[in-house]
This record gives sequence, C-alpha cells and structure tokens, in this order.
Amino acid sequence: MRLGENREEVLDFATSITKAAWKSFDQARLIEPVIDSQNEALLSQTAPELGIDPLIALNEASSLLNQSLAHARPRFLAYVGSSGLEIGAIADLLAGSYDINMALAAGAATRVENQTVQWVSEFLGYECAGGWFTSGGTISNINALVAARENALPGSRIHGLSKTKSAMYCSQEVHYSIVRAAELMGLGSASVRKVAIVSEGRGLNPVVLEELICADIDAGVVPICVVATAGTTLTGAIDPINDIADICEKYGIWLHVDGAYGLPAASTSRAPLFAGLNRADSVSVDAHKWMYVPKACSILMIKKQAPFARAFGHDEAYIPHDEEILNPVDMTLEYSRPFRALKLWLAMRVHGMSEFRAALEGNLAQANYCYEKARDCGEFEVLPFHPVLSTVPIRHIVKGCPDVDVHNRELAQAIMNDGSSYVSPAIIDGQQWLRPCFTNIRTTLTDVDVFLESAIELGIGLCPTHGTAN
Ligand SMILES: Cc1ncc(COP(=O)(O)O)c(C=O)c1O
Repeated sequence: MRLGENREEVLDFATSITKAAWKSFDQARLIEPVIDSQNEALLSQTAPELGIDPLIALNEASSLLNQSLAHARPRFLAYVGSSGLEIGAIADLLAGSYDINMALAAGAATRVENQTVQWVSEFLGYECAGGWFTSGGTISNINALVAARENALPGSRIHGLSKTKSAMYCSQEVHYSIVRAAELMGLGSASVRKVAIVSEGRGLNPVVLEELICADIDAGVVPICVVATAGTTLTGAIDPINDIADICEKYGIWLHVDGAYGLPAASTSRAPLFAGLNRADSVSVDAHKWMYVPKACSILMIKKQAPFARAFGHDEAYIPHDEEILNPVDMTLEYSRPFRALKLWLAMRVHGMSEFRAALEGNLAQANYCYEKARDCGEFEVLPFHPVLSTVPIRHIVKGCPDVDVHNRELAQAIMNDGSSYVSPAIIDGQQWLRPCFTNIRTTLTDVDVFLESAIELGIGLCPTHGTAN
C-alpha cells in the first residue's frame, strides 16, 4: 500500500491543489457552491474493491473540498470559525507523516509539546506546572473536571459517587461541554448550577455564585468546581475571574477557566479583563479557534500534576511503568494522541507572538467597527455595550416588521444561502439575533462592510415575505 514510483508526482499534485486552495481563501466567495451531480454520484458509491490512480482520487477530493464550507474564507463569521494557518496545515502533514503517538514519552516530540504548553502559558499570563494538547475544548474541559471531581471526592473514580451529592457552578451562558462533563462524570446535569449573569458585559454574578455555594454546603452537597468562562460562545462575555477565585479560595473549591474561545485576548489590550487567571487550578484554550491553527488543537494547562495523576493514572499489563514516571496517558483522558502541538509550535516559531497579538487586535478592531457601524446606521439593534471580545450580536430591524424574531431567523438563513458571507443565528434573552464572530486572519474591515450591506439588502427584501406568511 505505497505510492511507490508515483510518490513524487502525487506530492507535487497535492502541493498544487493545496496552493490553489490557499489562494482561493485570500478572497471571499460571492456564492457558496452546492454539491454538483458528479460529486453526488461519487458520494453515493459503495466502498471501492479496487483502488484508482491517486492523482484522480486527489482531484476528486479537491473537488469535494471546494464544495464544502471552509471556515478559512474571510467572510465566514459563523460560530467561532477561525481560519487555519498555512504553516499549521504543513505541520499537520508532517505530524501525520511521522505519526508519533503522544500517549507515552516520544522523545523530542514530547519536549516540543511541553515547550509549546509553556509558550502558550507565557503568552496568556498563566504560570502552569504543565499541560497537554487535546482534541478540543470539550475534551480539555472534561479532562480538568474529572481531576476536580477526584480532588473533591477522593476515591470517586473507584467507588463512584454512591450517595454523595455534588455540584458544579458556572455562568448560565456556559458552553454545553461543561454540562456534558457533568453527565459523563455521573454527576448528572442537574448538578450544574447555572449562575445568573449581570446585564453589563453578561459575566457571571459572583454574589449569586456564593449564595448558591453556601446553600449547597448547608444542604450537604459537595461543591466540585467553579467554571469561569473567559469568553462565552454566545456573546464573548468574560466572567469576573478574580472575584470567583476569591470565592473558590474561601471554600476550597477547584477553579477551572474555560478560555476555549476568548483566552488568547489575554495577550492583548483586553488583558485586564482576565485578571485573576493565574489563580485558576486549570485553564483550557483552543488554538484552533482564536490562535488560528487548523482544527483540532486545544491546550489544557494545570497548576499541579498530582490531582491529574490521581484521577487518570493507571498501570496496565500492556504499558507497565515505574509509578514515579507518569506518561501523558496517566494524566489525560485520551490514549492515542497525535502530535497536535507541532502546528502551534511551528506557527509560533514562524510568526512570533507579535504577529499573533496583531491579528488578535485586528479581530477586536473589526468587532468594534461592526458594532459601531451596525449601531450607527440605524438598521440594527445591538447590545447596550461594546463587544467584550470579537463576537458582535446584531438584530436587523425593519420598520413595521410584524415579527423581528422570525425576520432575523430567516435572515440568518438567507445570508447563509446567499453565501457571500456566512453568519450563525443565536438566541439571546429569548430573542433571535445574528451573531458574527471575528476570529479569522483573512477578514478585513471591507469584509465587515460587505457583510452588513448584504444583511441589510437581504433583510429588506425578506421582511414582507414573512409578514404576510404570518
Ligand atoms: C467557551 C467554549 N468552551 C468549549 C467549547 C468546545 O470546544 P470544542 O468544539 O473544541 O470541543 C467551545 C466551542 O465553541 C466554546 O466556545
């Protein structure tokens, strides 16, 4: 199963289609193509018994990729889209070629992983005792929360939770991965206390947090951890980490900061918003979001190794090891782990932290520009405060519109169908909003103009339709 004599030619061809892809990402598309009939036929084929020429197969793959939704394009403003970096894609090819398993000590690759964790921690201002790369914020969060559970309830990994009642605390706008962690850990989603947020900035209200913790302690419920979100997925809100750390310290509770989306901004002019970060027991950040590298590349950083070893360490007949020597498999959820750190290490080497900071400031500026332009043009409703980070919820308002929620839901769909921009809908305080998020190195202020203008044009064309439909 080798490419044999074809190898050079296949690599050259792969290089040429990759170059074409990167070139196409430099500009937004005017429309998003649908899957054509040739690809529909290809996609309904059964598994091939005999292989074909790799050049033909690569050409097919290239065509399928071109009919897929690429986050790399400059007006992809949906979800927390990011953009990928060329050097990151090259790193993925290299890491895949060497196919190192990071489960156990893997020589220089393990040193690169450790060094990259240190570089990230310096960049963000979190002094850590170590950490690992994982497949995403979800897994980083689960990894940290399992350690927090074992820390609060020693032996629970062996005996289960039996009759112990426990609770986790987080903002009402926390990412679902935290609820999922509670479900998977056997705590149950009902143990997740969703703390009310304040209206200015939408961060968690620490007074309510402390009240909930006290009520639980009085009722014999064991607090396992508080999750502070440093950049909520919905609006980019940052919970007051320092106030939360004070409460955690007072009651001896683990503090985890979920910075999957927003934490890279701790390296920018917004750093003061993250005050108290260094007091957290664990911190997660996704480099495949706002550090621009291709998916999936998350980092979990920790203050102490011991709770992780207690939560995950094991000695199996097929991986015997000295108890003193802990491998990543003894402290992380995943077993086989690809060399994810390489793409961030290479990106940091090639671009330097100054370029990262400049790109982040650029996205923050785009978000501010989008907010002010939407607010001032009179066509949109915006939140009553400037964007905390790079997420800018806006609502299109047409005078006399019978149902602004239906209108904005349909408008989000119309923008996605139109394809020149891509934006996701979101529900904020029960209302329907559009939620552009700026995390792409390729986006410019002109892209913001184009997005807003097309939203207005599509919105005006749309309003009478649902007005009569309802
Ligand atoms: C705040 C936050 N936490 C966790 C996640 C989950 O990250 P992933 O999709 O990498 O698992 C997200 C995803 O958007 C997020 O915004």
